[in-house]
Amino acid sequence: MKILITGGAGFIGSHVVRLFVEKYTNYHIFNIDLLTYAGNLENLKDIEGKPNYTFIKGDITNEVFINELFEKHKFEKVIHLAAESHVDRSIKDPLAFVKTNVIGTMVLLNAFKNTWKDSFKDKLFYHISTDEVYGTLGQIGLFTETTAYDPNSPYSASKASSDHFVRAYGETYGMPYVITNCSNNYGQNQFPEKLIPLFINNIIHNKPLPVYGDGNYTRDWLYIKDHAVAIDLVFHKGINHETYNIGGFNEWKNIDLVKLLCQQMDEKLNRPKGTSEKLITYVKDRPGHDLRYAIDASKINKELGWKPSVTFEEGLNKTIDWYLNNETWLNNVTSGDYQMYYQKQYN
Ligand code: NAD
Ligand code: DAU
Repeated sequence: MKILITGGAGFIGSHVVRLFVEKYTNYHIFNIDLLTYAGNLENLKDIEGKPNYTFIKGDITNEVFINELFEKHKFEKVIHLAAESHVDRSIKDPLAFVKTNVIGTMVLLNAFKNTWKDSFKDKLFYHISTDEVYGTLGQIGLFTETTAYDPNSPYSASKASSDHFVRAYGETYGMPYVITNCSNNYGQNQFPEKLIPLFINNIIHNKPLPVYGDGNYTRDWLYIKDHAVAIDLVFHKGINHETYNIGGFNEWKNIDLVKLLCQQMDEKLNRPKGTSEKLITYVKDRPGHDLRYAIDASKINKELGWKPSVTFEEGLNKTIDWYLNNETWLNNVTSGDYQMYYQKQYN
């Protein structure tokens, strides 16, 4: 089976690519990634020589390129992760998010539909989405698969739009699809612009920890490897035209999470208790900041038997260890050196 994974050099994508390449040696995994600032082939160094893996540098918004690729390889299944993924960047440059997340998804949908329109048998377009499409919760309640879409940031609006197009292709053209909407991921290889890796990096370098607003915003955190396992499960067992919410059963107020992180970092770095907490600095809030996300993951739990395998304390511990043991990775992605790696490797 030929599977196209988009955005496979990014944070979540690289974990999904590795899992599929290692676990399913009878599948051929094609990873298309533009290698934007967020894409990094160092994430996949350990599997780059595997016979069932091919990396292709390319832009999902480039219609000619994508159509030619589908014509050549006839991908039977797609797992679509490529996206602009950071909310703060979407506030500065919304159009870039429309281009990649909406137009890019459309280009892929068209290529997939045109390749298989005569028979969609055994084909699948798996679209990876986010819980942010549901907007914000108040102090109580959970997002379910039937919660109405109500996105508040340009990022979440672009993801919501792409979800709608996937559904529309399912209804209009009979295209087989599944969508998963997941909560906040954390773990190794996450680009240090997102809360947890940014703060780990800042603590290492004794830099201020910029907490937005009063820090009382809540997120539902899921360890990356548990998300990859859920994706594997939905890919193989998910029901056509269904949506599954994926979450960590793990809500944390930002400020409480940051304090836990500070404690663990002090221990790991042998710094006196309370050292890292002194770096906490309250800064101007994010515009349109969603108060709370929390997922009801009972559908995927009941129907597919998935649940997270690690506690937050364990996952955070593993994550911190990984960043402390991979300072070169951290320095490379923050300095832009990873582009040189790519040139050396692929000329
Ligand atoms: P990321 O920013 O780490 O990775 C995105 C990848 O997409 C990068 O490798 C980048 O180079 C690639 N890319 C960007 N534009 C491209 C283009 N035009 N053509 C080809 N490749 C391109 O993102 P992530 O955190 O790994 O998120 C992956 C997916 O999961 C996204 O669709 C995101 O919306 C979704 N998601 C993320 C989270 C999270 O907490 N990180 C949670 C739920 C859903
Ligand atoms: O919920 C899933 C989403 O989670 C994904 O779809 C997105 O791709 C991913 O980026 C993430 O979005 P968030 O905006 O929730 O994640 P981020 O790490 O940027 O922020 C987490 C919380 O921490 C949020 O309330 C904002 C706050 N924050 C973030 C940064 C970067 C700060 O207080 N200070 C910061 O410097």
